[in-house]
Amino acid sequence: MGGNSSSPPPDGARRRLGGSVFTRGKALAARAREMIPGGSHTYAKGDDQYPQLSPAFIARGDGCHVWDVDGNEFIEYGMGLRAVTLGHAYKPVLRAVERELANGTNFNRPAPIEVECAEAFLASVPSAQMVKFCKDGSTAVDAAIRLARCLTGRDMVAICGDHPFFSTSDWFIGTTGMPGGIPQWIRDQTVKFRYNDVASVEALFDLYRGKIAVVLLEAARTVEPAPGFLEALQALCKRQGALLVFDEMITGFRWHAAGAQHVYGVTPDLSTFGKALANGFALSALAGRREIMELGGFGHARERVFLLSTTHGAETHSLAAGIATMRVYRDEPVTERLHAAGRRLRAGFMQAVDAHGLRGSVDCVGRDCGLLFVTGDADGRPSQALRALFMQEMIKRGVLAPSFIVSYSHSDRDIDLTVDAAGEALAVYRKALEDGVDRYLVGPPVKPVFRPHD
Ligand SMILES: Cc1ncc(COP(=O)(O)O)c(C=O)c1O
Repeated sequence: MGGNSSSPPPDGARRRLGGSVFTRGKALAARAREMIPGGSHTYAKGDDQYPQLSPAFIARGDGCHVWDVDGNEFIEYGMGLRAVTLGHAYKPVLRAVERELANGTNFNRPAPIEVECAEAFLASVPSAQMVKFCKDGSTAVDAAIRLARCLTGRDMVAICGDHPFFSTSDWFIGTTGMPGGIPQWIRDQTVKFRYNDVASVEALFDLYRGKIAVVLLEAARTVEPAPGFLEALQALCKRQGALLVFDEMITGFRWHAAGAQHVYGVTPDLSTFGKALANGFALSALAGRREIMELGGFGHARERVFLLSTTHGAETHSLAAGIATMRVYRDEPVTERLHAAGRRLRAGFMQAVDAHGLRGSVDCVGRDCGLLFVTGDADGRPSQALRALFMQEMIKRGVLAPSFIVSYSHSDRDIDLTVDAAGEALAVYRKALEDGVDRYLVGPPVKPVFRPHD
């Protein structure tokens, strides 16, 4: 188990919380909204993503437990938008970062740790031949797109329309429900296909003959690849002269330390990693085939690509965090534990769903290491109000869960406390289906991030 496997919470996880205990958080949120558009620097952390009775600000975390600014303690899921896979303030990672900070963080020439981190990454993901680091996932995915466009001399990007997020850049945001400020000609360059539907990709290649540079998807998300799907994509891209890119921002170091590409046995031309790579420190990576990656280097006769060159890209302490994180993955059964913890949670949760007769309305989907809960109405239609209600009732019972995505620090006891809380929360959910959700939900429903108007 993880280095921060926390002892059972003395009072927090089972304490019933009420709206009044979020006083400091609410005051801070009001100040934040005065200065920060939307009140937070990341949409997914925003007030509109959580019910009104929520901790608005988290002051600290340890393992899978967090404390808000009012001193309330929660078992947390999702943890840093899936970035913190080992646990908050995970000691071996912190020690490595502290050691590196004392040496200085950024120089005019590369630091040796850049080589060490590249070696550690390529040892962990042996299907990749070269790697370049940066700070966030979007930048890495953007770089994959640029490489593909330069190599193929084509402009268009085919993305999987069933996967919700790839980048903060115009070529992707232009395809979402919030495309304000993005010219139509840029939006037109990105087209969508369906997951597990090779024919939908073939149709795009037919419609935009000779124009598609790249096929981009997560190797899997909540649905596993149908037998032969990823292989067929690979063969199709080869035939059509396009690159295949796997966005492993979520699957990397969660499905397996060698990525989903290892699990499914299909090596893409390029892949992108981030999030779990450095247990919450800012580090992401573009990895892939040597002859493509080398376009960003020198010593070749082809047109060069400006590839991932940023001031902070190789900050030494983030690389130290990455190396320490990858070492834990190498030496300990991290991804096995993530799967086992999720399996236990899914089993307990679905038992509670059945006990309350909620099958068809409530579900738990995805691979065990990355579970999402689904909240539907009596007819199974997705409901943001019922999602808010479920989150509200979990928060009352000491569980902060926008998803059921576990970390290495979630102990069996944490999981069992969560299942108990879910059982009680689902009892309220059941009543809400019968009496109307408004009777039980305090405040408005949560909202989707991508919406053109408020
Ligand atoms: C699959 C996927 N790709 C890319 C990104 C972008 O990463 P970042 O937010 O670090 O730019 C995300 C972020 O949530 C993601 O989930």
